[in-house]
Amino acid sequence: MSANDLTIGIAGLGTVGTGVIRILQAERTYGGSDRTVVLKGVSARDRSRDRGVALDDVAWFDDPVALARSDVDVFVELIGGEGGVALEAVEAALDAGKAVVTANKALLAAHGMALVEKAEAANAPLLYEAAVAGGIPAIRTVRDYLAGVPIASVLGIMNGTCNYILSEMEMGGYTFEACLAEAQRLGYAEADPTFDVDGFDTAHKLAILSSIAFTTRLDASAVQVEGIRGIEPEDLAAAEELGYRIKLLGIATFVDGSVDQRVHPTMVPRGSALAETMGVTNAVSIRGPAFGELALAGPGAGGDATATAVVSDLTDLARGLAPRPLGRPAGMLTPFRKAEASGHYGAFYVRLPIADRAGMFAALAAAMASEGISLEQIVQKTPHRPEHMPERAEQTVILVTYPTTEAALKRALSRIQADEVVVREPHVIRIAASL
Ligand SMILES: NC(=O)c1ccc[n+]([C@@H]2O[C@H](COP(=O)([O-])OP(=O)(O)OC[C@H]3O[C@@H](n4cnc5c(N)ncnc54)[C@H](OP(=O)(O)O)[C@@H]3O)[C@@H](O)[C@H]2O)c1
Repeated sequence: MSANDLTIGIAGLGTVGTGVIRILQAERTYGGSDRTVVLKGVSARDRSRDRGVALDDVAWFDDPVALARSDVDVFVELIGGEGGVALEAVEAALDAGKAVVTANKALLAAHGMALVEKAEAANAPLLYEAAVAGGIPAIRTVRDYLAGVPIASVLGIMNGTCNYILSEMEMGGYTFEACLAEAQRLGYAEADPTFDVDGFDTAHKLAILSSIAFTTRLDASAVQVEGIRGIEPEDLAAAEELGYRIKLLGIATFVDGSVDQRVHPTMVPRGSALAETMGVTNAVSIRGPAFGELALAGPGAGGDATATAVVSDLTDLARGLAPRPLGRPAGMLTPFRKAEASGHYGAFYVRLPIADRAGMFAALAAAMASEGISLEQIVQKTPHRPEHMPERAEQTVILVTYPTTEAALKRALSRIQADEVVVREPHVIRIAASL
């Protein structure tokens, strides 16, 4: 070890933590700067577990907070969780004026502004490239490369678990439940998948990217979130017939000084870069008037890919680079203003379980017409019932609208529900024809 080394302590020796150590041990051969990154201390729960990496000369800390306060230049938080010991340790490191590198989007979504302000007050760097889209350099592209260049929107596939499940459902015709179970077996989904499949993980990443892109304060609570649990194999089959694929997209748009942030399943045209992003791969698209579109794709998760982003942050610190956590000083960020006319404008796909009674089609068409919504397609999915056959409780009808607003569609669907045309909640998927 030399006086010029950048010493680090890593809390969390799981998938990402051990990946970082593997890369750093190989990095001695390749080198990223004139300072060597040296692992000085580690912390995890179980000291006896063999992690498959050499930790012989590295100090062990049972308590991550003690590691954060120890004699290291950088504290690397790879424990996870929006609060608890991860938060305590990051706060302790920043209070001690140490640089922090983390991959923890949940922590940033919940406490991002407070941590950014703490980091600035202590003049301590806070870097988190790994927190958004794993191994894809999404943060630094928006924060550094596009700094000072107007950005109109940031969108993409930012959760590998959901993209894997949707890809498998489409290719095999399997149910959501079967694909989720397979994702859990392969280690792509947690035992409790809520965070991923209900869209919150994507929302956290979107809120972080959107804050940097639009130079606003970070507000993860302002994201409209809808996950993928309601998607059925017939939706994917219908999307294919219509020329689309269904993807869980995070979409943030800057509208007249306000920000619209949404996460929901979206039909995207087959052949587009987003539609062709399959399995656990992530894709981020950034758009602006000066540069058009900048698209990034790559591994959104996985130990080594995510560790690559952590090491990239460490190399920045070793090179003496310490960008502001959100691009510009927290005091210069504008307050977050949620766009009023929030929601999708475009075509919609609607799957309606309707009562099998005469006059239902006419009632549907009348409700849509009352909101000025024209229908491009109306398809009865349940086979026609001859008059001599007994009535079924319900049949499935699929509508594809011409472009309209989300608000108008919601009003039309409320009317359909009030008139007891549908027997259960309609299922709506937005169609993004021009992505
Ligand atoms: N995995 C990915 O692909 C990925 C992608 C992007 C971002 N991330 C983020 O990276 C972070 C780490 O994820 P991961 O997948 O590496 O998690 P993980 O495999 O579950 O590892 C978590 C580590 O934290 C340690 N830990 C938990 N509680 C602790 C405590 N109280 N004190 C000390 N150590 C404690 C665990 O110790 P033991 O090993 O002893 O139990 C384990 O080593 C999370 O914020 C995650 O959101 C992960």
